[in-house]
Amino acid sequence: MQAVEIKPDIYWVGGIDWTVRDFHGYITPNGTSYNNYLIMDEQITLVDAVKSDLSRTCLDRISSVVDPGKIKNIVVNHIEMDHGAVDKILAVAPNAMLYMTKLAKAGLARHFDISGWNIKIVKSGDELSLGNKTLLFLETPMLHWPDSMVTYVKEDKLLLSQDAFGQHYASSSRFDDGVPVEELEDAVVDYYANILMPFGRLITSKLAEIEKLGLEIDMIAPDHGVIWRKDPSKVLKMYHDMASGKAECSAVIIYDTMWKSTELMTRPLMEGLLAEGVPTKVVKLRNTPMSIAIKEFWKSRGMLIGTPTLNNLMFPSVAEFLTHLRGLRPTNRIACAFGSYGWGGGAVREAYGELNRMKLETFEPGIAIKYRPDQEDIKNIYDFGRQFARNLKEYHKQFEDIGSNV
Ligand code: FEO
Repeated sequence: MQAVEIKPDIYWVGGIDWTVRDFHGYITPNGTSYNNYLIMDEQITLVDAVKSDLSRTCLDRISSVVDPGKIKNIVVNHIEMDHGAVDKILAVAPNAMLYMTKLAKAGLARHFDISGWNIKIVKSGDELSLGNKTLLFLETPMLHWPDSMVTYVKEDKLLLSQDAFGQHYASSSRFDDGVPVEELEDAVVDYYANILMPFGRLITSKLAEIEKLGLEIDMIAPDHGVIWRKDPSKVLKMYHDMASGKAECSAVIIYDTMWKSTELMTRPLMEGLLAEGVPTKVVKLRNTPMSIAIKEFWKSRGMLIGTPTLNNLMFPSVAEFLTHLRGLRPTNRIACAFGSYGWGGGAVREAYGELNRMKLETFEPGIAIKYRPDQEDIKNIYDFGRQFARNLKEYHKQFEDIGSNV
């Protein structure tokens, strides 16, 4: 196992998991990597740890550069347990000093017996001189855990950004210039939608803070995926745009079905949307991992959620999706609901209840069809699709300038 030098005397020493497909419920079709970084200086310093079951890989990579027992400092930017091999590093470097935020210490104490650990609490603006290189710490609370911070290596203009700007993307290349651009962009959107969607405002203010501090960024090295060597400004711009509300002027129909009536409704809906020039995708929840449905929701300005009625409520997979989506606190999207019912109905009303709890822009009322759509229903559904598309295009206008002056 070899370390990979990413800057003079700074090495990637992480692990790649090509086969993981379920990352705490988040489906990862491209696997992931757990990145951490070794800084060779007068004080040898490790920034972040890997997932515990890759600790041997990490230690082997460190050993390709230096005896891990010589590590003097360990920076813990984030304590989620996919970076939890801190104890494994301490097992070989027991006298190392750990640097972390106050909340990281409190959180780690819930995972490990830290009574024998040497810990220094740091806060935004604190610096640590390693000899030739200087680390600057910047707290990023709730991006995406309360304990989070990033570490900036001043002399190298290198931002070690923990989860931020990462991707669940396994690759034999360690750098952005070694992978297809479209795949990388998709991985960034997927990661942002599923992990960072709730924190758009915080992201905007943290990016502004970095700009105000005048930090020049030559490279961004996250804890997952590839390192932004060729074009770190690309991911900064993507984050700025997504946090500001950028989305495609398109729609996604997300639905499930019992006896295919709700599914039948998706076809005239799509015809109506396309007739208005709104590109549309269709996602059937039972055939699609939740995280992919979330990504498709995030990419489009508008969502049509389709659900049959079951016991006066939404179909369970639709209820699950909307509950999960509500937790991600989506903004800047317009939505409507449709579905079939047999007698009492109720699912479309319930769906609007969820959409309104999310404070999304809604197009109401939705459209509910008894048992099975007939020819007149088909015409009405098509018209509903066209009306929603017109509303979507009007709503989208307020976001058209995002990104044009960044
Ligand atoms: Fe990669 Fe929030 O852990």
